[in-house]
Amino acid sequence: MCKIISIANQKGGVGKTTTALNLGVALKLQGKSVLLIDLDPQANLTEYAGIWDTEKMLPTMSDLIKGQIGMGERINIEGCIRYSHINNIEYIPSDINLANADLYLAGVLSRETLLKRILNNDTIKSYDYVIIDCNPSLGVLLMNALTASDGVIIPVQTQDFAFDGLTALTNIIAQIQSTINSELETIGVLATMVDNTNVSKRVIEDLKKEYGNKLFTTVIHRATQAVESTNKHKSLCLFSKSKLGDEYKALANELIQSYI
Ligand SMILES: Nc1ncnc2c1ncn2[C@@H]1O[C@H](COP(=O)(O)OP(=O)(O)OP(=O)(O)O)[C@@H](O)[C@H]1O
Ligand SMILES: [Mg+2]
Repeated sequence: MCKIISIANQKGGVGKTTTALNLGVALKLQGKSVLLIDLDPQANLTEYAGIWDTEKMLPTMSDLIKGQIGMGERINIEGCIRYSHINNIEYIPSDINLANADLYLAGVLSRETLLKRILNNDTIKSYDYVIIDCNPSLGVLLMNALTASDGVIIPVQTQDFAFDGLTALTNIIAQIQSTINSELETIGVLATMVDNTNVSKRVIEDLKKEYGNKLFTTVIHRATQAVESTNKHKSLCLFSKSKLGDEYKALANELIQSYI
């Protein structure tokens, strides 16, 4: 059974994209089939996975969505799937045009279910996991991701103000659950960029109190290798020695076990 998982937090720079790619690669290393979807107009996941030439990006998620609402040619999802040789993983890229989604979807009926309808086909269902990298906002793209998903993972950077906005996000998740997607489950909260500071320790304690067993046992530490990984377009899990890579592999194990 295909599990569609959104990596979401409207707070910027908390490790969503890093988690989407590395969790995806870690799941592949466990023998799972995985598709990554970049649903962020910043296209960081697309670049991380290996495309930074805008010409080569096309067609993207934006073209798929526009095709679905009749604003452009209707295209097959298969034609949007790319392969990252370095990371041995498939993904659908994004581009800056997705930034206008709030505008061009404003008058579209059932706009929250667009992505769900796009993903409702045999190609998508054939994957074990589809991982959606969300943009840092609470707009229509996030609504689409949550509506299309079976579960959501919330990375939280263990720094001051970590809790800012988390209530707004959990409220939206609850709204989606009680209206269009009762299947949506909060799989877990993931502590990221953990270091030896008291702030980091305090935030982890607070997350434990707030989320209990919904807080992943695995935490992701802060390490400069994350930036090196982005620059090399290569997953941490494929480095010969990487603490962060091992942590993402542990996260993949935890995720697989939570779905047994
Ligand atoms: N564990 C880590 N340790 C150190 N740096 C990290 C770690 N994880 C991510 N980073 C770096 O922090 C920055 C933000 O990470 P990332 O892009 O994954 O966050 P994001 O939540 O996707 O951001 P946005 O909200 O802009 O989409 C990147 O430069 C990334 O390389
Ligand atoms: Mg991102």
